[in-house]
This record gives sequence, C-alpha cells and structure tokens, in this order.
Amino acid sequence: MEKRAFLKSASLATVASVLGISLKSCSENEDPAPNDGNSTFTIDLNESTFVDLQNDGGWVLHPNQDYLFVNVGGSIKAFSSRCTHQGCTRNWTFSTNATCSCHASVFNVNGDVVSGPAQSSLTSVQLTREGDLLTIG
Ligand code: FES
Repeated sequence: MEKRAFLKSASLATVASVLGISLKSCSENEDPAPNDGNSTFTIDLNESTFVDLQNDGGWVLHPNQDYLFVNVGGSIKAFSSRCTHQGCTRNWTFSTNATCSCHASVFNVNGDVVSGPAQSSLTSVQLTREGDLLTIG
C-alpha cells in the first residue's frame, strides 16, 4: 500500500472510530454464498415470502440465501441462484422461466438453459419436504 493510500485509510478509520462508526462492509450480508453442503436451513411454504411456491410454475428467489425454488407440478425443485454465465446471484425475474437479468440468460424449471449467454444448467440442490416445510442442505 502506498504511503498516501495508507494515510488516507488510517485517517478514515480514526475519524470513524472517534465517531463510533464501524467500517464493516455493508455488503457482508447482502450476497450470501450458496449453501456449501455444510449448513442446513428450513423454509415454510406458508410464509408470505414463499407463497408463490404453492402454485404450479411459481418461482421464488430466497430473500437471503442464494437459492431459487420452483413448483413443478406440486414438487418443489431447488437450484443455486448463482447464474452459470458470470455468477450473478440476486438478479432474477420470473415468468414461466427464470431470467438472470444481468445478461438475460433464461433457464427453465429443470434449470436448463433456454437461451444464453449462459451455456450450462443451474446447479440443482437437494431438498427434503415434510408437509409445508422444505429443508435444504
Ligand atoms: S450472469 Fe446471468 S446472464 Fe450473465
């Protein structure tokens, strides 16, 4: 680090410290990593966030986990929301298919590419369902 950059960084940290402000990154919790298989979480299909999954063809992007869910004929499928093109995780829109709005790649309910630039399918994720509870991981 150059002397000037160091001094600028140190000065900012000092001022923030005096004012009681944390310099912790705002984005720390905004782009969670996809489940790496070491953590488990459960969603309740009755929660308003997931109500679209009660209908055939309904898609949901989990609000704070990098997963997409879709109801296919009453069965729920899960995919990593990390787009296989360049890795966008949170920029999804839904119709019959899921569209990554970063560069407009479209994926069907099986996670397969309908139109690029993505070249490969979304990563499927295992889940278990007990009634209206889905456990991922
Ligand atoms: S990152 Fe999704 S289309 Fe480019």
